Amino acid sequence: MKNALITGATSGIGASFARRLGKEKYNLYITGRRVEIIEKLACDLRKKYNIKVTVMLVDFTLPQEVDNFLKKIEMIPFDFLINNVGFGHKKKFFDDTYKKQNEMIEAHIISFCKITHLVSKNMIDNKRGNIINVSSLAGFSPTSFNHLYSATKSFIITFTESLHLELSSFGIRVQVLCPGFTRSDFHNSLDIKEKTFKNRGLIRWMDPDKVTTLSLKSLNKKGGLYIPGLSNKIIYIIVKILPKRLYYFLAKKIKI
Ligand SMILES: NC(=O)c1ccc[n+]([C@@H]2O[C@H](COP(=O)([O-])OP(=O)(O)OC[C@H]3O[C@@H](n4cnc5c(N)ncnc54)[C@H](OP(=O)(O)O)[C@@H]3O)[C@@H](O)[C@H]2O)c1
Repeated sequence: MKNALITGATSGIGASFARRLGKEKYNLYITGRRVEIIEKLACDLRKKYNIKVTVMLVDFTLPQEVDNFLKKIEMIPFDFLINNVGFGHKKKFFDDTYKKQNEMIEAHIISFCKITHLVSKNMIDNKRGNIINVSSLAGFSPTSFNHLYSATKSFIITFTESLHLELSSFGIRVQVLCPGFTRSDFHNSLDIKEKTFKNRGLIRWMDPDKVTTLSLKSLNKKGGLYIPGLSNKIIYIIVKILPKRLYYFLAKKIKI
């Protein structure tokens, strides 16, 4: 019996991963906060794939909730971990209280590391497992409006690449998935102009199912950094090779 833990499985990329792993007959432990939506997903998956699906309601910005959640899962041997919880923020760093901004550090870094530490230790003991940590193309691309989003996603990239280097010798595959613009509930709460949602130049919107199919396919071959979609790969290369001064000049012009 195989167990998978997917955080942030209510919608978008996380829900798509839940459907993929459900189809592969994993017993699923899925987290979210929007209870009706995630319970409906769980119900559909149970019926469709005849698997066990456990819903856990956890707010990743609240350390106490995360610690309670960890106590509940500490004895479960997971074969697959997908750290997918993530959110954007409407307000810029200096237009907001630090307390509010700190929620992103709590969810994207602290809670993320706590879960990874617990679940990976178990995988090391069992000498098998798969881990996908969802970062973003934004982790390579600082902007003047996304301070903590880019920075925390950048942390996830570096941390996961280190994890990949360490855990591959234990037979554990680790991927850091860096999607570009993906159609999901992610942008609902953000104040984004309508035109942003259209394909323009190298900006090509992807569906979550496409992102997760490509991610799992790549993980079957190798771990490490994975960027889904040709245009996202091109953006990544451009950002990497552009001289910093030119990058800063162009990045200052970006408004969303
Ligand atoms: N969409 C994009 O364009 C894009 C691009 C690059 C990377 N990503 C990354 O992809 C991942 C999945 O995002 P998505 O696009 O699929 O968006 P989504 O549909 O909004 O899904 C986000 C998931 O994270 C959960 N979540 C958000 N804040 C949470 C919190 N404070 N505590 C606990 N759970 C929380 C949500 O659950 P509840 O709402 O039920 O709490 C939901 O299940 C994120 O890490 C995001 O940063 C997205």
